[in-house]
This record gives sequence, C-alpha cells and structure tokens, in this order.
Amino acid sequence: MPIMGIDIGGSGIKGAPVDVETGQLVQPRHRIVTPQPSTPEAVAEVVAQLVHHFGYEGPVGCTFPAIVQHGVTLSAANVDNSWIGAHAQELFMQAIGHDVRVLNDGDAAGIAEMKFGAGKGRQGVVIILTFGTGIGSAIFTEGVLVPNTEFGHVQVRGKDAEHRAAARIRDEEKLSWKEWATRANEFLQYMEMLFSPDLFIIGGGVSKKYDKFGKYLSVRAELAPAQLGNDAGIVGAALAVKDLH
Ligand code: BGC
Repeated sequence: MPIMGIDIGGSGIKGAPVDVETGQLVQPRHRIVTPQPSTPEAVAEVVAQLVHHFGYEGPVGCTFPAIVQHGVTLSAANVDNSWIGAHAQELFMQAIGHDVRVLNDGDAAGIAEMKFGAGKGRQGVVIILTFGTGIGSAIFTEGVLVPNTEFGHVQVRGKDAEHRAAARIRDEEKLSWKEWATRANEFLQYMEMLFSPDLFIIGGGVSKKYDKFGKYLSVRAELAPAQLGNDAGIVGAALAVKDLH
C-alpha cells in the first residue's frame, strides 16, 4: 500500500503517494503554493487539500522546515512565527482525519537518501545537507538518525551558515558557482572538524547542478550529490510513517 508523503516548504507544499518498498512516487506529485502568511491553520488546510487531490485515505507523513519534537514545531526560521510551539501533528490529524507523522525536512531528505539514494547501505557517520531557502541537515551513525540537528544555524564568520551559503543566497547575491561553493566548503570543513563524517551528501535543488560546483569542494570525507532531488522530502516523509506502523 502506498503511503502519502507531503513536503512543506516556505514557497510550496507538495506531495504524492509513495511506494515505500521502492521509493518511487506512484502518481505525479502535486504542488500548491504555500499560503501567506503561512500560519498553522492555513497550512493545515493546504495539507488537507493535497490529500483530497489524490483521494487518499490513510496515514500521512509530513515534513516541516523547523525543529519538530514529538509532533510540536519548536522553531520558525523561514515560516510564520506562529509555528513556534504549534501542535503541528495534532492540527494536521484533525484536518485530514488520519494518523500523521511530522518530521524535520532535512531529516526526511536524509532518511530517503539513506534508504534509496546516495547513502544506501552506508555505515559509519553520514551527514546530509540540503541547500535551499535555508540549509537542512541530518546525521546518521550506523544508519541511525539523530533528529533535529539544525546545522544550518551554526556560525561561520559570525553568521548563520545558511545566511551565507543557502542556495537562496547564491541567487540573491548573484554568486558564481565557485563563489558559492567556497562558502559552502567553509561550512563543510566546519562540520568535518566537529563530526569527521565518512560521507557528506549534498542535497536540495543544487544537487542537480553538482557538476558545476562539486570540483570546488574539498574535505577529507567522501562527497556525493543526493540522488532523489526534489522528491527526497516526500519519500522520506512517507518512510517515516512506515516506521511508525
Ligand atoms: C530550519 C531547519 C530546516 C532548514 C531547511 C532552517 O532554517 O531551521 O529546521 O531543516 O531550514 O529547510
């Protein structure tokens, strides 16, 4: 039975039913623009719309771009501040009428990459970083996730890493691939100093352009572009539900 995965972002909310045995979307994904302001009630309504779009009945996995602990969102770096302390899981369950699991978007992407993508079968320490509006993160040791790492907020040169090196910043500051990669690499080196990973997986929209910037990255660890692209969040969300049941 497919499980519906939904990926909530600052600009779009997208989802699809996922075959959790293969990691494939069983129907083309559907995207709805994130309502502004992106309040919990407005987002819950879009989540319900997405589920109805597929005529789906069953448990749903949902990513969220913030710390998510036991179904409660505890931060709001790129979404409306009213999410801080919101009972996201409960709100979505009420909107959908089915079980929901809410998890951090970086964690979801990491879960998907470890199961079906660049981290498949990898032991040791693996760090996944997703470069988008912010920087999402996930760390696995021997395949086990430590959730809510929020590495995008570590300080590099006195600023949140994501305020220097998110993909959004590359666009906003019109940085060349080399300029942006130099910043991203400083962040990677800092992560490496702290965790000595065996593998870094570079995710988010930029993963498709890895050939343009991979050559400027230099760390001891192995480096690999993410393989699931924009679907990683959806797939990881669905997988997180499977683990619940
Ligand atoms: C948030 C993280 C999120 C990341 C990517 C950061 O600003 O604090 O929770 O995973 O953006 O969306």
